[in-house]
Amino acid sequence: MCGIVGILGNEPVAPQLLDALRRLEYRGYDSAGIATLEEGELARRRAPGKLVNLEKELNGTGLAGTTGIGHTRWATHGAPTKTNAHPHQSEGVAVVHNGIIEHFRELRTELTDEGVTFSTETDTEVIAHLISRELVAGSAPRDAVSVVLKRLEGAFALGIIFSGKQDLMIGARRGSPLAVGYGETEMYLGSDAIALAPFTNRVAFLEEGDYVILTRGGADYFDENDKPATRDIHVTQATAYLADKGNHRHFMAKEIAEQPEVIGHTLSEYVDMATHRVRLPEMPFDFAKLTRLTITACGTASYAGLTGKYWFEKFARLPVEVDIASEFRYREAPLPENGLAIVISQSGETADTLAALKYCKEQGQHTLGIVNVRESSIARECDAILPTFAGPEIGVASTKAFTCQLAVLACMAIAAGRARGTLSEEQERELVGALIKVPRHVSEVLRHEDQLEDIAKSICSARDVLYLGRGVNFPIALEGALKLKEISYIHAEGYAAGELKHGPIALIDENVPVVVISPNDELYDKTVSNMQEVAARGGKIVLFTDETGADANGDSTFQTFRIPAAHCFVNPLIYAIPVQLLAYHAAVFMGTDVDQPRNLAKSVTVE
Ligand code: M6R
Repeated sequence: MCGIVGILGNEPVAPQLLDALRRLEYRGYDSAGIATLEEGELARRRAPGKLVNLEKELNGTGLAGTTGIGHTRWATHGAPTKTNAHPHQSEGVAVVHNGIIEHFRELRTELTDEGVTFSTETDTEVIAHLISRELVAGSAPRDAVSVVLKRLEGAFALGIIFSGKQDLMIGARRGSPLAVGYGETEMYLGSDAIALAPFTNRVAFLEEGDYVILTRGGADYFDENDKPATRDIHVTQATAYLADKGNHRHFMAKEIAEQPEVIGHTLSEYVDMATHRVRLPEMPFDFAKLTRLTITACGTASYAGLTGKYWFEKFARLPVEVDIASEFRYREAPLPENGLAIVISQSGETADTLAALKYCKEQGQHTLGIVNVRESSIARECDAILPTFAGPEIGVASTKAFTCQLAVLACMAIAAGRARGTLSEEQERELVGALIKVPRHVSEVLRHEDQLEDIAKSICSARDVLYLGRGVNFPIALEGALKLKEISYIHAEGYAAGELKHGPIALIDENVPVVVISPNDELYDKTVSNMQEVAARGGKIVLFTDETGADANGDSTFQTFRIPAAHCFVNPLIYAIPVQLLAYHAAVFMGTDVDQPRNLAKSVTVE
């Protein structure tokens, strides 16, 4: 979603702002802009579309000034036009905003009645006018912002500069993250540490409700009650955030290829490779006493959660409820005493997941987050976290974060099974042994990428694609369909294979490829029966299976992709790879913007 950057520098800041905005591109955006103070006066350049358009604006007319803010906008209120692009200005102030001001219509009416003229369709413009109204009435910038913050309802992060105030920038946070970067003689504001990585690795994070007054000499933090606050400076692994594509054409390709390494890294945090035992950090709850798990997440992370459900129920005999966070947060679900709420999120900032987490806390649940960004809001809200060690994921389509989430859930399910006495030590060693082999199996799949490229070519003229899976592989069918539609824009749906006859089979004809995810496990024969039903109606079957599965049924398919045989427990981690590669190559053939597909944002910080 929207990205914010601000710099109090010593040289003209427009080029640095543009550079920082480039690193925020991965969040998803459809227009961008920069405002600086040129000899104390606010000046701005904005452009619809990609940053290259803003760059052209800047090359055409330049923008001086050593104090500035920049923004990538993911449109919520108003089309992605130049006029609606941030920064928004009113007399004496320029504002960049990530989030939504929920009651902006009321505020707009109030201001319009006072004679204010609005020039955009955005919710953000009210903030600029409200602050301006306070400034014109004689308030100092900090007082003006403090008054206005108390009037705002919704989720937001703000960056604000003021005409005539070269050594001042104010940031504020409610619901959307904001980081402060400490340079030698410069100060920075950013939506995340990735934006600030080339400037500094010393970063502090605003807490919920905070605002911060930045000068070149440092930062003063205030909480929502205007009380001075202290926020710790962390040394981030800034160089790790300077992610580049290496030899890959897209971040997504690089991130798919990194999976053997990052899955291995994540597993090494949670299992003892020598003894084949799970080794979780101390938890603030007892698995043995838990009555139920409630897993909430969005998109791909929710499919990781659904896979986890199969594992926890089977190995730990623990009842699990899984729901997408946007539904869960409003349905007032009754939650049991001694329940554990698990939230899963790559970014740790997804608004619905965060809200679901807060609901679970209010209901007295223990809370645990599986997050990739350790400094994120979700990580900070949870009683405990089990991070994934996927490294920065830049492609909008989640790939390596997903398989690392699966790795964490798999370890948790084993730990729960041991604690609850439903898994023996011998079974634990067997399952951990299977997990340890996953990076090798994933590497093996990656070696056959060219075959998946051919399969992708053969399906990408289709209008619709179905994905079928059963049991623990059903979530991989859902994930495969999501991956394909989000990056190739080909319509795809995932179904439990057994559901086919209850409706979806009506869609089958010779133009519909059906991707069947079916390792030779205890459900293989049942899935194959469903596959035959598809074949009988002319459907084009693409079968992902192992050697035995392929030998048994490979000749009745349109295409068969062979996957190394593994313990059925770990198949979801391995079968995730071909569905990712199939989607990736289909998108490349379709010529879409693979890393930043249209309309999508990497981190969905509004509901
Ligand atoms: O950052 P999160 O894991 O909370 O994000 C959740 C979803 O927005 C995300 O998985 C989304 O579905 C991806 N684009 C899927 O590839």
